[in-house]
Amino acid sequence: RLIYPIPQNRYGDIITHLRSNFFLEEPLNKAVELSSPNVDLEATILDTLHENLSIMALKSDTEQVVGAVLNGIIVPGDILKAQEKLEKSNDEKFKKIFSFLYKTNEKIDLFTRYNVDKIFEGRILSVDASLRGYGIGKRLLVQSEEIVRRENCKIWKMDVTGIYSQRIAESNGFETVLELQYETEVIENGQPLFNIPPPHKSFKIVVKYLN
Ligand code: ACO
Repeated sequence: RLIYPIPQNRYGDIITHLRSNFFLEEPLNKAVELSSPNVDLEATILDTLHENLSIMALKSDTEQVVGAVLNGIIVPGDILKAQEKLEKSNDEKFKKIFSFLYKTNEKIDLFTRYNVDKIFEGRILSVDASLRGYGIGKRLLVQSEEIVRRENCKIWKMDVTGIYSQRIAESNGFETVLELQYETEVIENGQPLFNIPPPHKSFKIVVKYLN
């Protein structure tokens, strides 16, 4: 069962779900061994939840949270503000991931590229480890499209870090605007920045253009 909007009294359950799934298993988090619980990541998640654009998946019988897509909208200048905020973090692993994401997004500058003043962002996609491969992730994205349209956003983007999220994006009509191979193209001082375990190979920024 997909629920939108997510009532505030379920935010704690979303965080609990993400702590034991997304925090440990999303490829970049896994590569740096991000701590879970995580003060900084949870603060950004709560900010995103308060935008009221996210959807959760519940198990029908128990009402347990088994998945979520956390969505938000960004406007020009948001990345710069986020980078300034990131400077204050003491969590080096969190900083490593987010400085890479912000830098890469700043470089491709989707606002100029598509001539838009707001972008709908799929920030976190997570499904309970025991229920993966049943199409829950895909359904969360299909359902998100209604919200993107209602918000009048023409550009819907995601940073997709692993092959399953990349496959879901492709089957939902997203196109790749940037692909970086982890071993050879995400490099710092001649070494891969993240040691990403297989089967994941590349980082992608994907975009769906809505008419
Ligand atoms: N083995 C093989 N294929 C798989 C597997 C698996 N374990 N899991 C999913 N797939 C394939 C499916 O076959 C499907 O491909 P198809 O469309 O060609 O048939 C595709 O991946 C999508 O499958 P869904 O069942 O819709 O996805 P699921 O509900 O399993 O959720 C998700 C995918 C969210 C990526 C899940 O694996 C997860 O939570 N991973 C950990 C967190 C993570 O990495 N999140 C994404 C990071 S990027 C971001 O958040 C924006």
